[in-house]
Amino acid sequence: MKRIPKLLFAWRRSMALLVTGGAGFIGSHFIRLFLKKQRSDGKVINLDKLTYSGNLENLRDVEQSEGGKRYFLVRGDVCDASLVASLFSGSHPIFQSPALKLETPAGCSIHAVNHLAAESHVDRSIQDASDFYRTNVEGTRILVESARKFWGLGASGTAQNRFRYVQVSTDEVYGSLEPRQPRFTEESPLKPNSPYAASKAAADLTVLAYAHTYGLPALVTRCGNNYGPYQHPEKFIPLFITNAIEERLLPLYGDGRQVRDWIHVTDHCRALLEVLGRGEPGEVYNIGASEERSNLAVAESILQRLGKSRDLIRQVADRAGHDRRYALDAGKLESRLGWNAEQSFAEGLESTVGWYQENEAWWKRIKNAEFWQYYQKAYKFV
Ligand code: NAD
Ligand code: DAU
Repeated sequence: MKRIPKLLFAWRRSMALLVTGGAGFIGSHFIRLFLKKQRSDGKVINLDKLTYSGNLENLRDVEQSEGGKRYFLVRGDVCDASLVASLFSGSHPIFQSPALKLETPAGCSIHAVNHLAAESHVDRSIQDASDFYRTNVEGTRILVESARKFWGLGASGTAQNRFRYVQVSTDEVYGSLEPRQPRFTEESPLKPNSPYAASKAAADLTVLAYAHTYGLPALVTRCGNNYGPYQHPEKFIPLFITNAIEERLLPLYGDGRQVRDWIHVTDHCRALLEVLGRGEPGEVYNIGASEERSNLAVAESILQRLGKSRDLIRQVADRAGHDRRYALDAGKLESRLGWNAEQSFAEGLESTVGWYQENEAWWKRIKNAEFWQYYQKAYKFV
């Protein structure tokens, strides 16, 4: 029988979780799952700037559900230090809502943070990295600084029981693997290659430095490539599915033999909940489903599922500095927290293709004139 490790951090009715980037792909799934699992306890404040990748449609069903009564949106920037401080201190106007009545035992309104807000697309970081360093590095510093200040760290030593900070990071911080090299563990050195990956590594190290120096009760997760509903169509799987549906060409970088380790977004979010509730502060946890696939193989599976011709694949110039292979060893998460991926890549891809077929209106609104402008610049063809 599976041993479930004990809960180290439990929710009460009048506690609040700050989720950043909750209108994005993974953040919206995380909020949905949190509100469903925490049937009555725990309110969610979603701090999101609503950049090109943030989309309130991703949360429409959540707002209309029973759990939606415990969900609050604050449109804003994680780099806005006074806004972030007003959320921690409880002085932000959102706390005047009677539905957001909270206990504030330590004079602080936020009991846990799940930090997802980021510039997330590697190709865009190669075109212009400035927003990546601003949001991913400076935004993270501002969040941990507010947490340190309002959680009174270092003073009473009780912060480990009362608060949690989860930094949602990526396997890309470890760099690239050769075909037969062993998978990344939490002990693998950080060797980020793209500006995106470097910004995420800088953010991870900042969080771990705050944990070490001030006792910030922080945990870092590093996950592989996510896929599933509501993923922005700039990313590989939704781009290829939606282009194929429209009989457009599928731009495969280089020889297409690069390998990614795929995980369904709901498995990632289940792992984030386990880390938040049962993880040991100061620790790093890899999150992966051991589903390595070459890009070419994924492209072929998508075409086959849609009944489209392989001729739609167009080999294009490779991404600059393209990482060859990612593969994650998630043994620590599995053995210590009892988490396991539930969805195979075959099942997950099948349902994801179905979701994009059934939700054309969602992605057609995103694949607008602005998108095609970006696309033309990035790919030199439409
Ligand atoms: P996404 O691009 O879909 O969503 C990012 C969200 O952050 C958007 O809602 C956007 O509006 C918001 N945001 C951006 N800048 C902001 C700012 N300055 N202030 C407030 N909000 C801001 O990204 P995603 O794929 O959902 O990724 C979420 C997180 O997970 C990121 O930190 C990413 O690095 C990490 N991650 C992603 C994957 C993946 O495969 N997508 C894998 C591992 C880790
Ligand atoms: O590994 C986790 C990371 O996965 C996350 O940290 C990032 O936020 C997320 O964007 C993703 O990064 P990748 O660069 O791996 O994902 P992307 O979907 O951009 O590309 C997946 C693979 O497909 C990669 O090898 C590049 C290739 N690709 C991508 C695009 C957009 C193509 O061949 N053609 C394309 O048009």
